[in-house]
Amino acid sequence: MNDSLTDHPLERDLERVLLSEGTIQARVRELGARIDRDYEPGDEPLLVGILKGACIFLSDLLRAIPRHVALDFIATSSYGAGARSSGQVRLLKDLDKPVEGRHILIVEDIIDSGLTLTYLKRMLLARRPASIRIATLLDKPTRRKLPLTPDYVGFTIEDLFVVGYGLDFDERYRNLPVIGVLKPACYQKMDEEAPQAGEPRGRDAKEGTC
Ligand code: PRP
Repeated sequence: MNDSLTDHPLERDLERVLLSEGTIQARVRELGARIDRDYEPGDEPLLVGILKGACIFLSDLLRAIPRHVALDFIATSSYGAGARSSGQVRLLKDLDKPVEGRHILIVEDIIDSGLTLTYLKRMLLARRPASIRIATLLDKPTRRKLPLTPDYVGFTIEDLFVVGYGLDFDERYRNLPVIGVLKPACYQKMDEEAPQAGEPRGRDAKEGTC
């Protein structure tokens, strides 16, 4: 596999690739092996994916864990406008089953302020699980508003606005196999004109797709 760029057309909207497909996949395999080593023989962790951003990481991570695991999802939304978390978290979808006595592994795509996971951890702890651990693909510790330390981190990154591998801008780019920094033209145009879905958005439409 080419470890630098893919042929994905959406990559033309990136200023640069931060993490290539090969780099991400290798790290996910390492995390899966480490998670497996850290649980006791016979433990069957419940992987809880936080929708929607974590869906790609979760689907790769769970295949990298060579033991039985269970799967469930939570969906949250933060109030307010803009790309940043606003400070309040709202639960949109709860777990399907009780988790008392279960080993929970929360799976996130990115931790920014820490507000989402602080809220979710508190909520889940009240349900008396055997343990709660957190795995995040990306961590931005410089953005933290609340102290929160994940147990497993794929990559610690600077405060850059990144898309791909589950991470979106305005619901786009989740299907990019790499993680990269979006060209400013792709998000500035959105702010200026708020086009309808399907309309070309960017000044750089000839070179890119936004
Ligand atoms: C992102 C990410 C985390 C949260 C992290 O979700 O997936 O859930 O923000 O931010 P925080 O640490 O500041 O709380 P987002 O609200 O963008 O929704 P999405 O996963 O559906 O893209």
